Amino acid sequence: MAAPHAPRTDDWWRDAVIYQVYPRSFADGDGDGTGDLAGVRARLPYLAELGVDAVWFTPWYASPLVDGGYDVADYRTIDPAFGTLAEAEKLIAEAAALDLRVIVDIVPNHVSDQHTWFQAALAAGPGSAERERFHFRPGRGENGELPPNNWPSQFSGPTWTRVPDGEWYLHLFTPEQPDLNWAHPEVRQEHEDVLRFWFERGVAGVRIDSAALLAKDPALADFEEGVDPHPYIDQDELHDIYRSWRAIADEYGGVFVGEVWLPDAERFARYLRPDELHTAFNFTFLSCPWEPGRLRRTIDDTLAEHAPVGAPATWVLCNHDVTRTVTRYGRDDTGFDFAAKRFGTPTDLALGSRRARAAALLTLALPGSVYLYQGEELGLPEAEIPLDRIQDPMHFRSGGTDPGRDGCRVPLPWEADAPYCGFGAGAVPWLPQPEDWAQYAVDRQSADAASMLALYRQALRLRRAEPGFGDGPMRWLPAEEGVLAFARPGGVICVVNLSAAPAGLPPHRELLLASGPLGADGTLPPDTAVWLRAADGA
Ligand code: GLC
Repeated sequence: MAAPHAPRTDDWWRDAVIYQVYPRSFADGDGDGTGDLAGVRARLPYLAELGVDAVWFTPWYASPLVDGGYDVADYRTIDPAFGTLAEAEKLIAEAAALDLRVIVDIVPNHVSDQHTWFQAALAAGPGSAERERFHFRPGRGENGELPPNNWPSQFSGPTWTRVPDGEWYLHLFTPEQPDLNWAHPEVRQEHEDVLRFWFERGVAGVRIDSAALLAKDPALADFEEGVDPHPYIDQDELHDIYRSWRAIADEYGGVFVGEVWLPDAERFARYLRPDELHTAFNFTFLSCPWEPGRLRRTIDDTLAEHAPVGAPATWVLCNHDVTRTVTRYGRDDTGFDFAAKRFGTPTDLALGSRRARAAALLTLALPGSVYLYQGEELGLPEAEIPLDRIQDPMHFRSGGTDPGRDGCRVPLPWEADAPYCGFGAGAVPWLPQPEDWAQYAVDRQSADAASMLALYRQALRLRRAEPGFGDGPMRWLPAEEGVLAFARPGGVICVVNLSAAPAGLPPHRELLLASGPLGADGTLPPDTAVWLRAADGA
């Protein structure tokens, strides 16, 4: 086992740039068509050179991979498709040697139907202690043929499945992901042990999947539109769970980032009280259209909701569940489409790419920490996956109307001229790469000073070098219509032109970085951002 690290008590997480690795699609070390830990280990120097501070791995545990690993069969082993626990330990140590911290993903709301607990519950039958770790109930209707309640699913489709002995079990996601009963002491104990298991192995943090869904109304009462509290979102008991988790994290100097989707800012901030989670993803920013007024309001609201609890904001443009940034920003409807992706939406990738470049500078200049999803630094667009290759259960549960999330999970292109763009040397990748993928390859972009990768490398280097970036205050500056301009401490200014006309730049003594070429007269073209050093005394 890798030597456990000394507890980290510094607050690196308040302004870290955290890179999300989707192991299945990052790099294939053993040539079987699926990304793996060997692939990640070989590419750690790439991440160190990119300039990120930490790496978050989506689930890498033993799993039937029905929902891309968010169906965990055993938290204490690595899925054989990805490698072994010994390799994960080596990876954590090798990452640490490169100053990269590791964050693992815990999925407490549910387990895989192949988990020993669920298998035992099925075998033990109605009324057994084994069933109490889940939500098993008799059905409604004369013969119990109707589901126990009307709860809406997080994916489309039903939330209850009937087993041969007649009982039904709850699953907010797919039937292969039965929900755990968080009122059961063994469920709590097990997760606390799992947290310790990974903190002991030197991970610096834990991402908590579906963090606001775990606790359920004990009566499992029907959901009624508009009636509070919701029977399974944001139940008050959750805070007690996260307080006990926080105590464990504090022993190890570990940190949490919660996946908390809540429209109510005050309810959201409760999860970030000083004795609960350190941070939570900011999905309001991700879902905000490319529109100056709404972006500014989102930034202001985010900072205002975090301030009272003293938590830093996180800024996220993309992850493994949403349409990739370049594609989203290249569409008329640039909003968020987790649940409503559409086939064949007209997209202007050149426009999307200009905006994504500008958005990168905006995001990296804001106060707090930033999440970067693998391939975002390459400007990958959302890929069209041929219907017969789609794997995401979301597609199937929508009756085939929703393309699902595979388009943002396509194996990365590393080398333009290698088979499968260098993802792996052997078998066909688990999801097909589009034919034009080579143009995005790391080697090609490394040789091009105007590439998205070059922009990210420079931006991350500057963000580290300039003490005014990261955590701390920001101040809006007067700007032309449709332009966002703000100053960070130490005289660094970020200006983003979201209008349709070129904009003037504020007085400055140095242009630090631009997301695209400036106009010949020194103006900032539409959909372009710059970092400036303010003129003396400004
Ligand atoms: C989260 C994950 C998503 C997964 C779901 C169920 O939203 O990000 O990928 O499908 O939880 O675990």
